[in-house]
Amino acid sequence: CGIVGYIGPKPAAKFLLDGMSKLEYRGYDSAGIAVYDGNRINVEKSVGRLSSLEKKLDGRFPAGHVGIGHTRWATHGRPSDVNAHPHADCSGKFVVVHNGIIENYLHIKEQLIAKGHKFVSETDTEVVAHLLEEYYQGDFEAAVKKVLSEIEGSYALVFLSQHDPDKIICSKQDNPMVIGLGDGENFIASDIPAIINHTRKTYILSDGEVAVVTNDSVWVTNRQGVPVSKKVFEISWTAEAAEKGGYEHFMIKEIYEQPKAIRETMTGRLSKDDSTVLFDELKWTKEEAAAIKKIVITACGTAYHAGIVGKYYLEQLARLPVEVDIASEFRYRSPLVDSSTLAIVISQSGETSDTLAALKEAKRLGARTLAITNVVGSSIAREADQVIYTWAGPEIAVASTKAYTTQLVSLCLLALYIAKLRGAIDQAALQKIIRGLKNLPEQAHEILEDVEPIKTFATQYGFNEDVFFIGRSLDYAVALEGSLKLKEISYIHAEAYAAGELKHGTLALIIEGVPVIALATQTDVYEKTISNIQEVKARDAVIIGLGFKGDKNLQKYVDHAIFIPATEKHLAPILAVIPLQLLAYYAAVTRGCDVDKPRNLAKSVTVE
Ligand code: G6P
Repeated sequence: CGIVGYIGPKPAAKFLLDGMSKLEYRGYDSAGIAVYDGNRINVEKSVGRLSSLEKKLDGRFPAGHVGIGHTRWATHGRPSDVNAHPHADCSGKFVVVHNGIIENYLHIKEQLIAKGHKFVSETDTEVVAHLLEEYYQGDFEAAVKKVLSEIEGSYALVFLSQHDPDKIICSKQDNPMVIGLGDGENFIASDIPAIINHTRKTYILSDGEVAVVTNDSVWVTNRQGVPVSKKVFEISWTAEAAEKGGYEHFMIKEIYEQPKAIRETMTGRLSKDDSTVLFDELKWTKEEAAAIKKIVITACGTAYHAGIVGKYYLEQLARLPVEVDIASEFRYRSPLVDSSTLAIVISQSGETSDTLAALKEAKRLGARTLAITNVVGSSIAREADQVIYTWAGPEIAVASTKAYTTQLVSLCLLALYIAKLRGAIDQAALQKIIRGLKNLPEQAHEILEDVEPIKTFATQYGFNEDVFFIGRSLDYAVALEGSLKLKEISYIHAEAYAAGELKHGTLALIIEGVPVIALATQTDVYEKTISNIQEVKARDAVIIGLGFKGDKNLQKYVDHAIFIPATEKHLAPILAVIPLQLLAYYAAVTRGCDVDKPRNLAKSVTVE
């Protein structure tokens, strides 16, 4: 989501709408503003892009010099007028905009309803406004701090109150928030592009900090009220660089967003004691899970590759037979699907025509349908019986990265969920994977801390015409995605091969100097993979091995090694793909390709 705030002598609405337009490049589903007019707070909001809100206002901007605004990327509650931010309490005297996920909102909501609060939206955010009303006893700042101590999850929050309209209060946890320092005016934004035309002097808020912003002061403390002295950060970025958060391309920005995206996708879906997976959006009974006889997964492109990983998860953990199909193939092959089939479709955008058609076909044949998608309220989300959302945030680069890793996380959670309901997994194995999942954000971060070796290989081999990716089991599934990434953005011809299959034909293509990227994270087939590595080595290929940190053996057989932090075998793909994404990225940069918009490709393909 995008957040803006203004306090100063100028008309607030003008800055808010202008700032929101600077954040719209990421694509949003609804927008809203709240402005204090000297008497009361007026809220205007609308589903759709910012232009829908502007059309609704028709030049009649709410008057006033203090206000907050929001462009929404839906997570809890579909895109609609009422679900759009800002959200208010019952009295309309407190308004709030929010970016993130309040994990314990249902619990808070139930308590507030019991106390007589009436809710109008399906969002997690609305509880924050009501909680503020509940806690307010004449001191706005104290009430905000009490609210912050109550809520769990990730947030960038901005609060405005009619009781105390000379200030805006904001705070953040795991989501960005900057304060633009003006002359007699101050600005608040989730992202720098929103304020860059007004000021280049900023305070970048850190997690847990609370800022009280007036037109001529910014007072920052921690949640306990201890003052924090902030350094002014001067922004030197151009407007274009600011859109990419200072990164050169959206793709690399999104690669770096993966630790957060993975964490958010698990938010609220794992029990605190690591014992179980919680899916409020599914709420299946044991009987429902037992009724499934077969699973079919359909998707396109990267999402299809996620589906292949999903097959391993669902077969190995939930012990159900799984077919994976390319969506454009599925509907034309008279698939054997009936009411005992669970049809899973995977789609980042939720709008891919082929996938939507496959979903409709599965439904027509009587299957129970489940969508895994990143876009709330998308066509696929609306069409499926049930939906698991990946909470990756907007993905802009055509080559999918954080959507893929969060699809894998969702599929793993789903496999564990079904496995437990069907009694297919023992508790110790389940807990081991859940603990592993919880470590992933930190481990992904670790990989991203040291990208120099990968950069070097990419520069070294970036001009080769052919590259091979090999692996067995889940490593093969990741190899498929690694090779697609390279093809899509660097235009290098790449092939992924099941390592054991090489000798049945493809080995003919392995000659001196051909780069082979060999994945060796799957311990149960490790020795076999090493044999296959030796096969290509004997043909003088140049081998880059990818294995777990501490694998000294691997180093003996490869020319270069890339190591990722060790994890449970099912989770290895989620980490192993990151170096491959980086390899593709740096190869494309080396070759001078248009990384974010590769030739002939589109982010979302809505034709068959
Ligand atoms: C397009 C994109 C791919 C993407 C595929 C499926 O072809 O270029 O990157 O993987 O569509 O998209 P979806 O939104 O359904 O995941």
